[in-house]
Amino acid sequence: MAVEKKIVEHLAELQERRAEALKGGGEKRVQQQHAKGKLTARERIELLLDPDTFEELDTFVAAWSMDIGFEQQRYPGDAVVTGHGRVHGRLVYVFAQDFTVYGGSLSEAVAEKVCKVMDLAMKNGAPIVGLNDSGGARIQEGVVSLAGYGDIFLRNTLASGVIPQVSVILGPCAGGAVYSPALTDFVFMVQGIGQMYVTGPDVIKAATGETVTHEYLGGADSHAIHSGVVHFTHSSEKECFKEVRRLLSFLPQNNMEDPPATPSYDDASRTDPELSTLIPEDPVKPYDIRDVILRIVDRTDFLEVHRLFAQNIVVGFARMDGHPVGIVAQQPSFLAGVLDIDASDKGARFVRFCDAFNIPIITLVDVPGFLPGIDQEHRGIIRHGAKLLYAYAEATVPKITILIRKAYGGAYVVMGSKHLRADVNFAWPTAEIAVMGPEGAIEIIYRDEIADAEDPQALRAQLTQEYRTRFANPYVAAGRGYVDDVIDPTTTRPRVIRALEMLKNKRDTLPPKKHGNLPL
Ligand code: HXC
Repeated sequence: MAVEKKIVEHLAELQERRAEALKGGGEKRVQQQHAKGKLTARERIELLLDPDTFEELDTFVAAWSMDIGFEQQRYPGDAVVTGHGRVHGRLVYVFAQDFTVYGGSLSEAVAEKVCKVMDLAMKNGAPIVGLNDSGGARIQEGVVSLAGYGDIFLRNTLASGVIPQVSVILGPCAGGAVYSPALTDFVFMVQGIGQMYVTGPDVIKAATGETVTHEYLGGADSHAIHSGVVHFTHSSEKECFKEVRRLLSFLPQNNMEDPPATPSYDDASRTDPELSTLIPEDPVKPYDIRDVILRIVDRTDFLEVHRLFAQNIVVGFARMDGHPVGIVAQQPSFLAGVLDIDASDKGARFVRFCDAFNIPIITLVDVPGFLPGIDQEHRGIIRHGAKLLYAYAEATVPKITILIRKAYGGAYVVMGSKHLRADVNFAWPTAEIAVMGPEGAIEIIYRDEIADAEDPQALRAQLTQEYRTRFANPYVAAGRGYVDDVIDPTTTRPRVIRALEMLKNKRDTLPPKKHGNLPL
């Protein structure tokens, strides 16, 4: 009887302690969090994971004693909630900074909790999702807190290319703290509440005299459109977590696995008559490449990554006959699909992610070349363009390229050409593969003839047509085997699916090395 009572007492204490931990920073601070339009750490985890799958760890870890003279109230769990759960039934590790405790700031205890789940994620080969909402380093803990950041950055780096890492920015994320999300594969941000910057508006004002709002400096739109730090923006937390779950559905658990195949519910041999009429006959007329992508992939399901950044290139995930693929494509309706600095960076990063995680790459090419201009040259289009080239050349996953329309100059080589060991290269009959576009080419090779002509315009038109017929078509490349086949556009989906099936067991390697030297 006495023993029974003791167990009851133990259980009551446990319940009481757990209830205390669940309160976070207390009712008032939870209300303040809600008043700012933000959810609490636990509410967020609930939205991210499958129902009733969250297993919390370190609920009772609290901040250690301070030795720099500051009092610090101890909250069980401190300023982060950590653990694991399931997304679509698959294991995922998670940490969620709790702004209601010391503004979600990073203490030694918080860092150790985060490192523990990161280590578990690595050992067990499952993705980690970090929910960021924090005032940065715990001021009361000084350098110990900075050390904690270092421990996390190290783990982010070691985990890179081993397990998918996803960051969600749901509050402040400032100073050096931004570098953990920046080291991860994908950054989501919710408009109005998420902010990232290395130095905030006050420091900027003091240092440069510039006046800027928090939102313009480091809000979701700024990072999605201008800096490219953020890959996905959403107007609500609910929508954001739905999309994090969707992203994870395309990814393998780790670099040793293939991406998860699902039933496609879309006919693998489906042809699409519209594909033969989508591309305007006039080679300079724009069209939306997404119309092509959506007609090729399973059930028009395309998760575009970096949608608002460098819109002249489109990258994202889709499925072909149920198998995840990465799509890289020029966007003729934005800057004519030209390759510039940002497009090169965007494409290179995506190609390298796909390669690291065994996701085949499908490239749709309609590229007039690299963007000319002093600004681009001086800011390093050479260096940035080289990243994209390097990424394609280095990638050993199945690579399938479809030349849709223009493929001129260096851009032809870069965009998944045979020469960078792409496996299957198709061209549509509309493809124009040449050193440069007809208009530019004839001005160079027939400069004197055009200058001396009675009617230069008529001669230009005639020479342009001749050049197009002779060079700007897919048959010269097909004659060399640089293009494996010229295909009827309407059959693109079945041809790509068959190529993917053929490449299912592809094995290719890089020469042994510590690592390459990507031109950063
Ligand atoms: C300890 C902190 C804190 C911090 C906030 N709090 N930041 N406690 N360390 N870094 C506490 C506040 O004292 C407050 O406690 C509670 O969290 C909520 O903060 P508020 O200021 O009331 O919230 P809000 O008005 O929303 O402003 C949020 C904020 C602001 C913009 C984040 O708190 C802020 O500027 N904090 C300091 C940010 C900062 O400079 N951090 C250090 C950056 S350097 P009470 O008890 O009142 O509720 C850094 C280096 C990392 O992080 C380097 C890595 C290499």
